[in-house]
Formats: sequence, C-alpha cells, structure tokens
Amino acid sequence: MQPLSRRSALLLGGLGVAGAAAGAAGLAWTLTSLGAPVSGAALTHPAELRSAGGSLALELEAARGPVQLAGRQATALGYNGTSPGPTLRLRAGDVLSIRLTNRLAEPTNLHVHGLHVSPAGAGDNVFVAVDPGGSFDYEYRLPADHPPGVYWYHPHHHGMVAEQIFGGLFGAIVVEDAVPLPVSMDRVLVVSDTDLDAAGNVRDVPPSERMAGREGGLVLVNGQSNPLLSALPGQRERWRLVNACAARYLRLQLDGQSMQLLGMDSGRFQSPAAVEEVLLAPGNRADLLVTTMAGESVLRSAYYDRGSMPGMMGRGPAGRAQGDPSQGVSLATLQVAGESVPGPSGVPPQPAPADLRQAPVAAHRQFLLAAGMGGGSMGGDGTGMMAFTINGREFDEARTDTTVAAGSVEEWTVVNTSPMDHPFHLHVWPMQLISVDGAAPASPAWQDVVNVPANGRVTVRIAFRDFTGRSAYHCHILDHEDLGMMGAIEVR
Ligand code: C2O
Ligand code: CU
Repeated sequence: MQPLSRRSALLLGGLGVAGAAAGAAGLAWTLTSLGAPVSGAALTHPAELRSAGGSLALELEAARGPVQLAGRQATALGYNGTSPGPTLRLRAGDVLSIRLTNRLAEPTNLHVHGLHVSPAGAGDNVFVAVDPGGSFDYEYRLPADHPPGVYWYHPHHHGMVAEQIFGGLFGAIVVEDAVPLPVSMDRVLVVSDTDLDAAGNVRDVPPSERMAGREGGLVLVNGQSNPLLSALPGQRERWRLVNACAARYLRLQLDGQSMQLLGMDSGRFQSPAAVEEVLLAPGNRADLLVTTMAGESVLRSAYYDRGSMPGMMGRGPAGRAQGDPSQGVSLATLQVAGESVPGPSGVPPQPAPADLRQAPVAAHRQFLLAAGMGGGSMGGDGTGMMAFTINGREFDEARTDTTVAAGSVEEWTVVNTSPMDHPFHLHVWPMQLISVDGAAPASPAWQDVVNVPANGRVTVRIAFRDFTGRSAYHCHILDHEDLGMMGAIEVR
C-alpha cells in the first residue's frame, strides 16, 4: 500500500448521527452531517451476473434516461437503466462476452479497468469507438492465472470519459478467489459522485472545473446517498470498494470497527493487513474485511488535500474545494446491533504474490506528468488555458508514445512536476509498486492506479507478459485524461 500522504496530518471532523427515525419500512433514518440532514435507506446492491461453466455473456445498453440516484428519479446515464450497471462475477480462465449498444447521442465504448486481458481486436480495445445507435461485441479472455480482486468497467472514449462516468456509466467486476474466503456477507460498494440540478439533470461542468478535475457534491454508494447497512455483532463482512469518482479521492475510515485489507486493485496480499484508513485515488479499489462490533459507525471519506494549481478555481460549485478541511464526507452508516453471532473466521493462505523486485529489468523509463499554462485544449470561460501532458505531449491517438518488447520487465518512474496529485493508470498489465518518493512500501502491492503525489515520484515494475497490442496509460483524474494527460503504448 502507498503511504497516505506526505502532507501533515489532517484534522478529522466528527460526523454526528442524530437519532434514527422510524420510517415506513422501519429502515428510514436521518443522519446529520456536513450541517445538512440527509436521509438514507437500506443499502441495495446492483444486479449480479455470475459466470457459469467458464463463460458469461451479457448485453449492456448505455443510455441517458430515468435512473434512480440518491433516492430520486434522475435523468442520468446508466447501463441497462441503472447506475451502477450490473456487477459481473467471474473466475480466472473465464470468457466474458459483452455486446455494448450505444443509445447515447455521442460516441462511447467500454474499458474493463484492471482486468489482465488482451488489448487487441475485440478485447480491451480502448481505440474502438461505438457511434450512437451502434453496437460492438467485446470478448475478454481471462488467463487461467488471472489475479482475483475487484475490478470495474466504464466508458473510455477519449474526450468524453469524465462526463460519461460523472453521468453514471460504470459497474463492478469481481474475479473470485480460487479458494473461497468464508464471510457472512460479500458486498460490492461502488462509490461515485455527481451533481443533480432541481430537475434531476446531471450538472454541466465548466472548463475551469475540468482542469481541477470535477467533483460532485452528491457522493453515492451503489447510487444511494448515505445508505444504511445493518449487521449483527461478531460478523465478518467483505466489502469490495470501487472508487468510481471522476476525480475525487476517497480517504476511507470506519471508526469503531476493525478493518483488514485483503488486497488493493489486483490480487490478494499473502495475509490481510489491519488498517485504520485506506486511500483510494480515482480508479483504485480496496478489498476489505470488516469484523462487526456493536454500535453505529459512519463509513466516511476524510478530507484529503490533492493539491491544486495556483489560481485554479474550486473543484465543485462555488467554493466547495475551499470548504472546511476538517469535514469529511459521509458515505454510509453501519448499524451493528442484536445478539452477537460469531461469524466465520480464519483466512485461507494465499499464494505469495508475484514479486519483480529482483527481476532483471529490460528498460528503465521516465514519464513526466505536467500541468501548465499554454495548452491549446481549453479556454473560453476566462480562466485561461492549461495543458495536461505526459513527457511534454498531449495525447494523440495516431502516435505511439511507448513501445515495449513483449515478455520484458520494465521499471517506470513517474514524476509529477505539478503542485497537484495525479493518479497514474496503466491498462492491461498491473504495476508492482516499488517506491513512493524513494521510500519502499511495506508490501509489494500490485495496483493498476498508483497515486503520484504533488511534486513527487513513484517507481513501479511491470511484466509485459501474455498479450501484445496497443493500449494506454493516463491520469485517472478523468478530466486530465480527457484534456490530454494520456499516452499510447504498444507491446510487440
Ligand atoms: Cu479506468 Cu483508462 O481507465
Ligand atoms: Cu491528473
């Protein structure tokens, strides 16, 4: 795991729970947080589709229309009418076939974030564009040794990614463990953010906010605002958290409960690590084990300062980013009450994760992430133009920036020359975190998004095995990706 931040410790505000009000179903309640009462309902989970006999085939229709968000009918984007779309549960070795149909007014496509599958042809090919009214048949073949974990899918049409995800297009993918871990509950919690106007439409985001990376004031879990989770004491739940926010960092805390981290993005740690909090940059996932103790706990995202450019405007409507940093955001409430029922215990041993620290390295590369004045891609609202580049260049689909020999191990150092964090994401091939600002992490975590702190640097190692083809790496503050902070890679 990456260290949380090099910045000084941040004050965490208390989020007061102001009594439960009995509702129609006995589940309604009221939470007073951030000065405003928010009402929630019992947590629901997206529909789950499981592979059987080595395959899963489904259709996903991306459309703008009525979608349930934050307890109301919004006009937003959804897959098959819901946001998040269905959760796909797979096993290593499976073939996943998805027919994507585009009912939007603009192009879209599909990316299976973090899956180790071919980027070529009908695989995880982000250079495919599906035009309005069109469809595309994707086929993803997971290798027999695919790492277990929680992954996700979302659109990847360059220039539209942040808007389509902020609008509601995303869903979770679980690759099950080879040896099941006994738990009382296995939940997928997809965290997203957006903003809805009075009529229920997703807010349009001006250029100034895109440069900062858009953050919505509505932070949702499985499309719900502050849902309620109920459990008996002594239970063991597995929470698979996805940060599907376009730009928001989640610094997750669950006071009063014991949390263990089973793994980050890709694969499991050999043994679970007790954690007080977990930082998820946009795109990251956490595989958590929660052992319930009687009481009421708020799952919240504490304040995290991801930095900003001098003169840059706020990340949300009027001054949100300048708000009281002692305040966090409440995501959900866990209510643990009743007779204690001892849940399952023990964690089956995991195979040691791959470790490239001693591997011979075929090439060392450096990637400079820069954000500065003088770009050509923005402007028009009086805030000036800013360029988001990797090694001095904005993304150009016609250009291949990095060519790698198939089968080789490379060491990449990603250097952030700007005063704001950028989460660096590489498709298809997971990255082993080697160091952050020169310091080695406690364990050799495998991630597909690594946060590169403001004015900091991160070193990773990557084994370019199994697949050849063309794909991409980019900042997962998706506005930055759309503005050009992306490069094309070809493995051959
Ligand atoms: Cu989650 Cu290239 O994206
Ligand atoms: Cu960025």
